[in-house]
Parts: sequence; structure tokens; C-alpha cells
Amino acid sequence: MPPLVCPHWVGYSLIVPWRKWVHDPRKILGAHVREGMTVLEVGPGMGFFALPMARMVGERGKVVAVDVQETMLRSLEKRARSAGIADRIVTRVCQPRSLDVEDLAALVDFALLFAMVHEVPDVMALFRDVAVALKPGAACLVSEPRGHVTAERFAETLAIADAAGLAAIQTPKIAWSRSALLEKRAG
Ligand SMILES: C[S@@+](CC[C@H](N)C(=O)[O-])C[C@H]1O[C@@H](n2cnc3c(N)ncnc32)[C@H](O)[C@@H]1O
Repeated sequence: MPPLVCPHWVGYSLIVPWRKWVHDPRKILGAHVREGMTVLEVGPGMGFFALPMARMVGERGKVVAVDVQETMLRSLEKRARSAGIADRIVTRVCQPRSLDVEDLAALVDFALLFAMVHEVPDVMALFRDVAVALKPGAACLVSEPRGHVTAERFAETLAIADAAGLAAIQTPKIAWSRSALLEKRAG
């Protein structure tokens, strides 16, 4: 049976203001996202991380937000327009088994996959697509909710990422989560 995708209405619970006390975007992403970067976020939902990242990359940067649910992206766009940063965010609807990001090959400086890998039916295809989009040596932060993803399953996820060319180089501590920083192998 394919994994369940987070319903649109649950998306609202992921953008509640108090979440930043648990998942402070600047603390989690500050070391990775800098001005002028092109960032890929897969499964951004309503943009809890995409909007802060759009502020972090500044006017010269870009956040490409790719989600399988158009309704999530429409809510993200609305929030980005209200915040005055819609011009830094590109939204794209993808297929469950393909991100359709071949045009971004080796153009992405950083990728974020937060609380979404466990919803994906083909994890190898996901990591292959992310690896293609990243520049050699660029990083990808993967974070999965502890409540949904066991330590064994997270280890399997990292093994699949490794086979796709993304090697785990750090295990950052993020509340309620199992997390790893991956790096695209050169060559
Ligand atoms: C639990 S939500 C997390 C949202 C956001 N990353 C956050 O932490 O607030 C998971 C998101 O991943 C998206 N998603 C699920 N399967 C996907 C797939 N195969 N490709 C791209 N996005 C997917 C869902 O539509 C949803 O927006």
C-alpha cells in the first residue's frame, strides 16, 4: 500500500506560530542557507521553512518549492504574497515518484526534505532526483518525525540516500526528529 500523504488540513497545524519554538528555522538552517543561494525544498507543505528560507536567500536567491499537492503550494504562495517575498519562491507540482527537476541539474546549493520522506512511495527515485539537482559537494538536510519513523527505518532511508550518491556527514539534533545532513559526492 502506498504511504499516506499529509492531508491539506493537517498542513495548517504545521504552520502554527508556536512551532518555531520547537523547530526554529534560523537555528536549523542558518548554517546551510546563505544569501544568493538556490534552495530546493521538497514537500514544503504550506511553507513553514520555505518562507524563512526565502528571507535567508534574499533578493538574489531563490527557493524552489516542489510538492505533490497543489493545494499545499497554493496556500504557500498566498502566505508568501502576504509576506512580500513571493518573487523569491518558485512553486512546482510534482509526481509522487518524480520531482521533474532535470532542468535544475547541478544548480541547487542546498536541499531540504523535512518530515516528508516517509510519505514518498519511491525513496530511491526521490534521492536520485535530489542528487541530480544538487551541485557537487552541496548539502541536503533530511529530517523525519520520530513519532512516524523508527531508528531502523531512518537508517534504511540513509542507506538509500547513500546508494543515490548522498552520503551522511552529520547527524544534527532537531527536536522530535531523526535527522541527517547529506552531501552530494563529487563526480
Ligand atoms: C508532513 S508534510 C511536511 C511539510 C513541511 N515540510 C513541514 O515540515 O512543515 C509533508 C509534505 O510532503 C508532501 N509530499 C508527500 N509526498 C510527496 C512526494 N512524493 N513528492 C513531493 N512532496 C510530497 C506533502 O504533500 C506535504 O506537503
